[in-house]
Amino acid sequence: MKDWLDERLSISALVAIAQKKEVPLHRHSIWYYFGGMTLFLFTVQVVTGILLLLYYRPSAENAFESVQFIITEVQFGWLIRSIHSWSANLMIATLFIHLFSVFFLRAYHRPREITWVSGVILLFIVICFGFSGYLLPWNKLAYFATKVGTEIAGVIPIVGRPALRFLRGGNDVTGATLTRFFGFHVAVLPATATVFIAIHILLVQLHGMSVPPSLAKENVGKMKFVPNFLLRDLIGWILAIGVLAALAALFPWELGEKADPFAPAPAGIKPEWYFLFMFQTLKFIPAKLLGFDGEVLGIMAFNIIALLLFIVPFVDRPPGNPRRRLLFNVIGVIALLYIVVMTIIGYVTK
Ligand code: HEM
Repeated sequence: MKDWLDERLSISALVAIAQKKEVPLHRHSIWYYFGGMTLFLFTVQVVTGILLLLYYRPSAENAFESVQFIITEVQFGWLIRSIHSWSANLMIATLFIHLFSVFFLRAYHRPREITWVSGVILLFIVICFGFSGYLLPWNKLAYFATKVGTEIAGVIPIVGRPALRFLRGGNDVTGATLTRFFGFHVAVLPATATVFIAIHILLVQLHGMSVPPSLAKENVGKMKFVPNFLLRDLIGWILAIGVLAALAALFPWELGEKADPFAPAPAGIKPEWYFLFMFQTLKFIPAKLLGFDGEVLGIMAFNIIALLLFIVPFVDRPPGNPRRRLLFNVIGVIALLYIVVMTIIGYVTK
């Protein structure tokens, strides 16, 4: 085993793999850039996150003040914090684009089922990164958003209450919750993300890039990954740095007021944009539905849909069946429209 690994992990073996790698060229090739872009933004998160760690203090007494210190006293601290926050949001956006493009291009067909499954796990990890990171500045908005978010988890029958206590480190959102979220955000999640990103990328290298089944009969050209495609990736990453720098400079990330657990919740409290479509759905569901608690039904439905994501590659087969292809396209378009419309409604309503 060791010899086998040594042989494959030697520099010359990696160079040989890189030289052999090719990317299919067709009218949908643009979507191949989004996985790499997500990976780049993840790297930005790691680097800026480590820099923030040099000054951040994870306690209810010090967290807010330490972030205030970072943005007012530390040289370029405001820039690093803003880039970390903007890049987190851009990364979630590129991740959603990557997921939907892989879905519509049917890149999950055999032999890429496990690549898809590892991707779904990464989606959940990234969402947990967002949720745990949001509380860390210990400001008013984050405090109440976390209260509402963990309350929603607590509604699930049987597992909800223990999950809520586990997440909060007690019955309420307190300093114990902050310390816990910090642990998830800087240790547990980065470690699991690194493992699953490694598996994901390894599988992508193993299977090569897929050609969408709709183009299978066409003559699809190829582009060398090194240097041609990689240089194009690089242009995208440089553009992303430009966008991040512009966003951070023009719209520095707000800190707001320090959290006060005894203050009343501010009116119209809303979660981060990527949770809005679920939050808005729960607002629309009547209190009682078919004799059950409407909110519980809504939350259960979202959990089931999330679990169904895992089995997509195993139910959409054999590939190439035109009726199934239509069905999955319709499901994908409805899901996408639903997310977009509900997010917009969530934004414009109070
Ligand atoms: C941190 C999150 C993620 C990172 C860093 C990442 C990275 C990548 C990269 C670099 C590629 C190769 C280039 C490309 O096709 O864009 C790729 C391919 C792929 N990804 Fe992801 N990905 C992530 C999340 C996901 C998610 C959420 C899914 C779907 C549920 C997914 C499913 C796939 C599949 C099936 C492929 C193979 C595409 C093909 O062969 O054409 N990934 N990913």
